Amino acid sequence: MVSSKELKERVSRVYAERIKEASSCCDDGVAVEIYSPDALEGLPDGVASFGCGNPVALASLAPGQVVVDLGSGAGLDCFLASRAVGPEGHVIGVDFTPAMLEQARRNQAKLRIDNVSFRQGDIEALPLDDESVDVVISNCVVNLAPDKDAVFREAFRVLRPGGRLMVSDILLERAATAEEMEDLALYAGCISGSLPVEEYLGKLRAAGFEEVGYEVEAPAKEGEFWFSAAVSARRGVTA
Ligand SMILES: C[S@@+](CC[C@H](N)C(=O)[O-])C[C@H]1O[C@@H](n2cnc3c(N)ncnc32)[C@H](O)[C@@H]1O
Repeated sequence: MVSSKELKERVSRVYAERIKEASSCCDDGVAVEIYSPDALEGLPDGVASFGCGNPVALASLAPGQVVVDLGSGAGLDCFLASRAVGPEGHVIGVDFTPAMLEQARRNQAKLRIDNVSFRQGDIEALPLDDESVDVVISNCVVNLAPDKDAVFREAFRVLRPGGRLMVSDILLERAATAEEMEDLALYAGCISGSLPVEEYLGKLRAAGFEEVGYEVEAPAKEGEFWFSAAVSARRGVTA
């Protein structure tokens, strides 16, 4: 069986390759399908999307909020969130792949956005203080983390009481088989590392979250056992 460390290194290598290959979000059919043309207007080549949903559109962000994006990739959701939180707010993108962070910072420089910062880190051990953010977003990344309990514990820790989590992710209609989990294309492709719906939501509840729920963003296609969903939860005010 592949160790968690090896799995993360493989995932990181895959995404380092993908960001080198990707040139433009606007050539990427997935991004165009998921995001409205208005949202993508004005973004430079290189703001590639590897997501499976649109967490910013669903997160109801407000001016002045601090937002963290788990697995921020080339920065697209951070840049969209930065518009919503405005100059009084701040968005922190966390990613463990150096090539992604370099691309995200290049994109940020082109866009001249100064209320976003990118940090290298593992979403299983966030480089953020306790109770320091208002909203946790993420787009198709939690499924890649071998230790989802740790990811949700960390998300809970960094959220202020009353803070919210809005994560677009792949959920499964049945558990992936051991063979599917060992298939790197399926794993790094954001499918076989994920969990059946109730198991995924149960881990959020176990981490302390309340108001845990999900909505389907894109249903399973014929013959597939996975679908895209927007998962939401809240850290209670007394927790
Ligand atoms: C499917 S891509 C999604 C990127 C971005 N959220 C988007 O929508 O374009 C997955 C990203 O998560 C990062 N990643 C995967 N596992 C991670 C982990 N444990 N900690 C930090 N980043 C991780 C990868 O480096 C990659 O940039």
